[in-house]
Amino acid sequence: MSKTELASGGSGRAALGEEIVARINQLAAISETPEHLARIFLSSEHRAAADLILSWMREAGMAAHLDAIGNVCGRYEGENAGLPCLMLGSHYDTVRDAGKWDGPLGLLSAISCVADLNRRGRRLPFAVEVVGFADEEGVRFASTLLGSRAVAGTFVESALNARDRDGVSMREAMVKFGLDPEHIGAAARARRELHAYVELHIEQGPVLEQKDLAVGVVTAIAGATRLAARLTGMAGHAGTVPMAMRRDALAGAAECIGMVEEFCKTDEAGLVGTVGYIDAMPGATNVIPGMVSFTLDIRAPSDPHRKMAVADIVRRIEAIAKRRDLVLQLDVTHENRTVPCAPWLKAQVADAVAAEGFGVFELPSGAGHDGMAMIDVADVAMIFVRCRGGISHNPAEHVETADADAGARVLLRLVENFRPREASSPSSSRP
Ligand code: GLV
Ligand code: MN
Ligand code: MN
Repeated sequence: MSKTELASGGSGRAALGEEIVARINQLAAISETPEHLARIFLSSEHRAAADLILSWMREAGMAAHLDAIGNVCGRYEGENAGLPCLMLGSHYDTVRDAGKWDGPLGLLSAISCVADLNRRGRRLPFAVEVVGFADEEGVRFASTLLGSRAVAGTFVESALNARDRDGVSMREAMVKFGLDPEHIGAAARARRELHAYVELHIEQGPVLEQKDLAVGVVTAIAGATRLAARLTGMAGHAGTVPMAMRRDALAGAAECIGMVEEFCKTDEAGLVGTVGYIDAMPGATNVIPGMVSFTLDIRAPSDPHRKMAVADIVRRIEAIAKRRDLVLQLDVTHENRTVPCAPWLKAQVADAVAAEGFGVFELPSGAGHDGMAMIDVADVAMIFVRCRGGISHNPAEHVETADADAGARVLLRLVENFRPREASSPSSSRP
């Protein structure tokens, strides 16, 4: 699509959706394997995607660079150079066998919004920055939000010692990528540099579709706890060890997994629990599994409820391990509190939604987002965009071009009408 075509959309404003969708497809081609989209932190695909996104940022009129942890950062100056910014962003890493919209939609929408401002020569009384976070999903090193934690200044140095499934530490992977693990601190931003952080993201759930709405206003991001469990029993011959004498780690893990599912299913306060990864050793048909590792992901809309549920699940896993004479190692790899969207900022999102002619509908996010880390350095708000069937973390993830356009128009309207907290009058705010 040519720049002239882009600049002459129906309402005199660029047809942002088409540019965003074209780029979503370009980015989705950068994958570990062509059949199953996977773009993992500090991989060669991470590097290739970063280069492409940086080129789009520069084309949009931003000064752009790769920061100390591998985030892509673009800055569009305001009326004067050096003003505090409104930061927009999302992530560009993926889960394995991912959909192409989770993360990139928000990042590419933000870049297209800045490109639109730039084409019109529009400068605002604040800078606009766009960040593409390098690791939100936490696929490689089990702990999530590494990119946004580095920007928020809450990156924990011990995370550098975490190892991936091949035994490579984050420290080693960073060096191989060309980054200096001793200088992650350089990615951190100060609160005074940011007016706010706003993220557009696909809903990853079915509510907007059910309500027949293209966009929604997020109220809060639900907290989450992730654990890594290891059960050690005794490997042995599948034909000779009587059933009563076995210490089968995989059978123990299976009981734990069934327990987690049952426990969450019978909860009436929105608790969800997932075992998304399991590895049985030594992994042969005729060998009793001696050691099993698995992960646990537990979420709930209320932090106290989630914490009580996690404590209860841990007690039950300990009891299963004890009864089966298995040695249990259980580590919390990630813990995030529920993050509320700032009322003053959420009100501006709602105003932008209404101004673009959409019904204002508020909903919470069950999925995690970079805002969970950014809350430590700025007030946070989010815009959700409808996705087909509510499907996400699945290659069937899909967003209609019209909905991508709707989301970007809301984001652009928000940016152009944005008033920093000090200047935003409570009377203009929705509750
Ligand atoms: C991120 O996608 C998460 O919620 O796990
Ligand atoms: Mn995701
Ligand atoms: Mn995401």
